[in-house]
Amino acid sequence: MDITKVVIPVAGWGTRSLPATKNIPKEMLPIYKKPVVQYVVEEAIQTGLTDVIFVNNQNKKIIEDHFDYNFILENLLERKGKPELLKEIRDVAEMANIISVRQKLQLGLGHAVLCAREVVKNEPFAVMVGDDLMFGVDPGIQQLVDVAKAERMAVVGVVEVPQEKVDRYGIINGEEYVPGIFRVRSVVEKPAVEDAPSRMAIVGRYVLTPEVFDHLDKVEPGVGGEIQLTDALERLAAENRLLAVRMRGRRFDAGDWAEYLTANIYFALQDEELRDGLVANLLELLPCK
Ligand code: G1P
Repeated sequence: MDITKVVIPVAGWGTRSLPATKNIPKEMLPIYKKPVVQYVVEEAIQTGLTDVIFVNNQNKKIIEDHFDYNFILENLLERKGKPELLKEIRDVAEMANIISVRQKLQLGLGHAVLCAREVVKNEPFAVMVGDDLMFGVDPGIQQLVDVAKAERMAVVGVVEVPQEKVDRYGIINGEEYVPGIFRVRSVVEKPAVEDAPSRMAIVGRYVLTPEVFDHLDKVEPGVGGEIQLTDALERLAAENRLLAVRMRGRRFDAGDWAEYLTANIYFALQDEELRDGLVANLLELLPCK
């Protein structure tokens, strides 16, 4: 089973990040030196996914442009004798095949995935949420692709979240049949804290089988009046066709300001040129000093 396509829904409005995202897609906000979406695409590429399908709206053209050549800038860098920078920006243009589909109405994550149906066709494919970042030993989506290939089933990535946060996520109910892998019995989107079947929350990483499109075609609007991907996953779970993998590594939700800022510091601390100055500045800012 070969998996080469990844769907990255990027048509959301990013209201959590306003006013920064009034005219800039939330996926283009920088974390350290790169826009958020570049980390997501790099994770896909490291996993061997070569065809990136952006599900976008009319304001997101800048995302595709980021993964394309910019001849004027390249020319300038060439003339100014900046070969490293030139290579860096050319590499971004050459890292993936970019395919765009429009989500003309923002009817939910499930609807966004359904918009990619004609491009994905009849193959298993990955879905990566454009503002969820995962860093660790293995690329996040690789952890799911490995299990999906071995088990020939759809797989979702999960992490354990505190009880009071379960109402922000899709929550699975299932049993861990080998360490780190769950057979999913049911899934519920954003349950009330007291109703959640577990604390295992779906993060923005999925490997899906094409039968999910038939389910998405049929599901009615769910939580928030949206076509929920979780509701289609619930149908896969009911047919015993869904696994979950406990994801290893650190996750950042770039739509949450505290996590967004932490992610910036996380990367900056890995840059030897920046580290000492940054730590000194942060210590100076600490109010308890
Ligand atoms: C979406 C999914 C939810 C999942 C979450 C992960 O919710 O519907 O099941 O847990 O992504 O980021 P959203 O954050 O778009 O409301």
